[in-house]
Amino acid sequence: MAVLALAMTACSGGGSGSDSGEASGASSGDKPWDGDASEVDVVTWWEAGSEKEGLQALEGVFAEQHSDTEFVNAAIAGGGGSQAKQKLAADLATGNPPDTFQAHAGAEVTDYIDAGQIEDLSGLYDELGLKDAFPASLIDRLSMDGKIYSIPSNIHRANMVWANPSVLEQSGVDPQTPPATIDEWIADMEKVKAAGFTPITVGMAWTQTELLETILIADLGADGYTGLFDGTTKWDSEGVAKAIGHFKTMMSFTDSSLYSEDWEPAMQPVVDGKAAYNVMGDWAYLGLTTQGKTMGTDYIVFPAPGNEKVYDFLADSFTLPVGAKHPGGAKAWLETISSKEGQVAFNSVKGSIPARSDLSEDELSKFSDYQRGQMTAFQDDEIVSSIAHGAAVPVKVSNAINDAVMKFAQGASDEAGLQTALVDATASLSSK
Ligand code: GAL
Repeated sequence: MAVLALAMTACSGGGSGSDSGEASGASSGDKPWDGDASEVDVVTWWEAGSEKEGLQALEGVFAEQHSDTEFVNAAIAGGGGSQAKQKLAADLATGNPPDTFQAHAGAEVTDYIDAGQIEDLSGLYDELGLKDAFPASLIDRLSMDGKIYSIPSNIHRANMVWANPSVLEQSGVDPQTPPATIDEWIADMEKVKAAGFTPITVGMAWTQTELLETILIADLGADGYTGLFDGTTKWDSEGVAKAIGHFKTMMSFTDSSLYSEDWEPAMQPVVDGKAAYNVMGDWAYLGLTTQGKTMGTDYIVFPAPGNEKVYDFLADSFTLPVGAKHPGGAKAWLETISSKEGQVAFNSVKGSIPARSDLSEDELSKFSDYQRGQMTAFQDDEIVSSIAHGAAVPVKVSNAINDAVMKFAQGASDEAGLQTALVDATASLSSK
């Protein structure tokens, strides 16, 4: 076993892979990932702010493992992929794909699979020894009719609250005791408001959807929430109406001047001591670390109330588009992002946890206590899929949900109107 493990590590760990620097000419071999490895054109949305640092960590490992392949950064700004996915859709439709692109594992990838735009990578999983490297629960979420179309670089948790302890104290709210329910949380927000601070901040549409999904998890429970995607929980149910009521109250506490901002500027008032709470995924850990902030003193973090034992999951993964010009370059990238070195270097910085479950204690020691805690949560908690980050629903559905939520925020905050819009936005899920 040990020998086999070592062999697998050597294989997935890269080195200057045998394919690197291969002669030009796309798809020169029988496998879709054989061919030109002179460069790799990588589309992500880790373009600005702290996110860029995460990508740079990965780039560093790539340069070591595949020095003959040039890394071409084709990142497109916009948290959650808000801009990247539109540009990608246009480029893929016109037959102008990058060599690899970031996509959320789960339902989001189905858009590209259904359109025949990405290659089945099951054979590459075998070649790189990845089927045993990732936990079975993740392989299940990645598989579509027995095939796997993307390789994950990380796992993130979306349903976390980032809070300013000093603002809470000044508002008479005990930072040591997070609220247990949404109603208790709203009561705390009232106190924050009375003390003259902004209770909670949100930014552009997807950040509002992320807040709504944590409220749905709290009000429906993990199973009820998951039922929203297979038709067992109805979008026109009482439970969803209750969540929308809570969402309306919380949105009334937000600062609407931030509604067009990306997640980092939308969270900044919390960092600056002007606001109390922000709901965001654990990429915020990197954002706060980059600003030199310390958990426990400068900020506190806890699962959203009612979400304590629920891990709202998403994973960034990378694909091989059909017709990529440098498939060998894409293979080299996929090898790096899935290698132990790549996963440790990237995730220890990014705030996420590694998708691989076979890291040694020495490798795991590179992670913060926060991340070690989230690794345990991923094993022990109930896992649900994020709407805002493509794990639960295809891109067109999450776009429609984002539109509905934004209309609600900018309009008259009509609860019944939002519920009807959500029913319409998700109609294609139950008709599948
Ligand atoms: C998510 C992505 C994360 C992080 C976040 C904010 O969709 O999975 O890695 O980048 O958006 O941009």
